[in-house]
Amino acid sequence: MNDQEVRRGAGIYSKPVLGFYDLLVVKFSNSLAWRCPSQLMLDQYNRCIGTRHLDVGPGTGWYLANADLPESAEITLMDLNENSVEHAASRLAHTHVSTRGVTANVLEPIPEALGQFDSIAANYVFHCVPGSWSDKGVAFKHLGERLAADGVLFGSTILGSGVSHNLIGRGFMALYNRLGIFHNREDDTAGLEAALRRSFDQVKVDVIGTVAVFSARNPLRNGGAGGLD
Ligand SMILES: C[S@@+](CC[C@H](N)C(=O)[O-])C[C@H]1O[C@@H](n2cnc3c(N)ncnc32)[C@H](O)[C@@H]1O
Repeated sequence: MNDQEVRRGAGIYSKPVLGFYDLLVVKFSNSLAWRCPSQLMLDQYNRCIGTRHLDVGPGTGWYLANADLPESAEITLMDLNENSVEHAASRLAHTHVSTRGVTANVLEPIPEALGQFDSIAANYVFHCVPGSWSDKGVAFKHLGERLAADGVLFGSTILGSGVSHNLIGRGFMALYNRLGIFHNREDDTAGLEAALRRSFDQVKVDVIGTVAVFSARNPLRNGGAGGLD
């Protein structure tokens, strides 16, 4: 996969863009364009988040800042774009949780030194990542390796295939895919589910509006083939 394309998917998150992201995406687009209200994804955070939590692609950190975080939560913020790591960390700076930041690509193995996590979130990350589900699925293998045996991976991603986008959604899809901010024209539910199943024994995918909301448990330690078909 083209490294430049991968970086372009994360590169848009400059400080000014992060400054209006919550208004554009969390408040407006999620309900009106993608038809999956942010509260629904926040509910998933509240259901799934554990004490040792890895947040991949935290963006502004809106979900973390609004979730009911466990009392002694240790949050690791991992993003290819260090602006997102810094923005999310500053959002959590005055809360009871401890944070650490890592600048890394989810398509590459995640350093073992980070340890094991009770929960890993990747919310709205995979529609930014180029390639087919076979390519993106490599990330599930890497994330599974860092998940505790009884942990949970969860997140959501905007689909481009097999769902019906409204007028606003179609406009955003065309623009964002043309600019290389999104890479999701071919992303469908079956491909996501199959990619998750290559690395996890227990997989759940629900489609709400045009968004696939997923969770996965029981990482397959040696059998997971990641991106291989
Ligand atoms: C659309 S934002 C999602 C922000 C937030 N999680 C949310 O749900 O609103 C995507 C985030 O994923 C990050 N990202 C994109 N590609 C990535 C990659 N290959 N590895 C790690 N992070 C990536 C971006 O930099 C950005 O912070």
